[in-house]
Amino acid sequence: MILASEPATPLIDVIAGARPNFMKIAPIIRQLRRREAEGGKLRYRLVHTGQHYDYLMSGEFFRQLGIPQPDFNLEVGSGTQAEQTAGIMVGYEQLLAQRRSDLCLVVGDVNSTMACAITARKMVVPVAHVEAGIRSGDWTMPEEINRVVTDSIANWFFTTSKFANENLHQAGVDERSIFFVGNTMIDTLLANLDRLRPSPTWEELGLKPGGYLVVTLHRPANVDLAHSLALLLRAIANGARGLTVVFPVHPRTRKTLEQLPEIPATIVLVEPQPYLEFNFLVKHARAVITDSGGITEETTVMGVPCMTLRNSTERPETISVGTNELIGTDPALLASAFDCLFEGRWKKGSVPEKWDGRTSERIVEILEMLLLSEVKLTTASERGLPEASAAPCSP
Ligand code: UD1
Repeated sequence: MILASEPATPLIDVIAGARPNFMKIAPIIRQLRRREAEGGKLRYRLVHTGQHYDYLMSGEFFRQLGIPQPDFNLEVGSGTQAEQTAGIMVGYEQLLAQRRSDLCLVVGDVNSTMACAITARKMVVPVAHVEAGIRSGDWTMPEEINRVVTDSIANWFFTTSKFANENLHQAGVDERSIFFVGNTMIDTLLANLDRLRPSPTWEELGLKPGGYLVVTLHRPANVDLAHSLALLLRAIANGARGLTVVFPVHPRTRKTLEQLPEIPATIVLVEPQPYLEFNFLVKHARAVITDSGGITEETTVMGVPCMTLRNSTERPETISVGTNELIGTDPALLASAFDCLFEGRWKKGSVPEKWDGRTSERIVEILEMLLLSEVKLTTASERGLPEASAAPCSP
């Protein structure tokens, strides 16, 4: 028994909601458009949930990365975890009720990822998860819950590493639905390396390659309490040996920074940076100090030392292969990491397997196979389940 019929031009919903999603969908959309121009049959519509809505957090990324205007914007805006998740689910359900799609493609681990995955599956629309299978094991992070929920209901899994494949195997996911394809965020980085450019801040501060540090902090554990954020900033300024520390400030962090009586003089607060300017800063930094996951992937590819101010990571390959080190959130632990950096003992690192700029090509090729081949979904018997029978009684 085949569980779904083949539409002539399958429609894919590409979901994007928050800043780290935009660099992950950009190359997938570019590849979908390229295949369409070549006569390919897949069609897509871009759904922006509106989780991030500021020009600097959203619009400028669309412009710089050549992402077309969204076909739909659910305009959910800010809110508590539940308000945001529920708002996205209601908006996306209405969209699917008006016109179903044949696949919901979600990326990463933000609230939009989980909310759209749940909604799609409940509307019997299959789900593909890009960046599936990564796990931090830290259940205090909303992102970990988003990952586990999304992966527990997705139909197909595109992974960035063999660690992720292993996590999915352990969760009982069928090997045939997992595709180790590489990293779409790195597709975007490699495609834009030649376009990276300095922001006005570069000139204003007189920055020189290797002569400054970059900091980004936005995790609640680091930034929600003024006292802990102040201690972290002090430890960073002390460790930096007088170098300028450029700190592009996430909106969540700004609210706490405003409560601090003072900020160390060498730490320069700047607005959230656009994609090309931010990665220019990172590429030429002596080191990056961050609690982001995505930035540890970008520093790994650019070979820039990275200190992660968290107690766990869902991206272990950035440590085992790349330039990242897990320092923890205790400011006292930063001093020895800075010693290692300034004594020239930081590891060199290399680039993880398949982070080669061609991940989106692989994904779209697999989507064509999944959505355009004659038998798309597995049969009940293939999944080891009893098949429906037209003749339940024995003769
Ligand atoms: C979200 C993601 C996180 C990701 C981060 C990158 C979840 C659970 N978290 O966290 O995984 O690393 O984005 O930025 O999905 N705000 C603005 N303008 C905006 C967006 C937000 O001012 O365009 C403010 C909000 O009012 C809120 C704060 O920033 O006070 C946090 O935004 P929110 O989307 O709730 O989560 P992030 O911390 O950005």
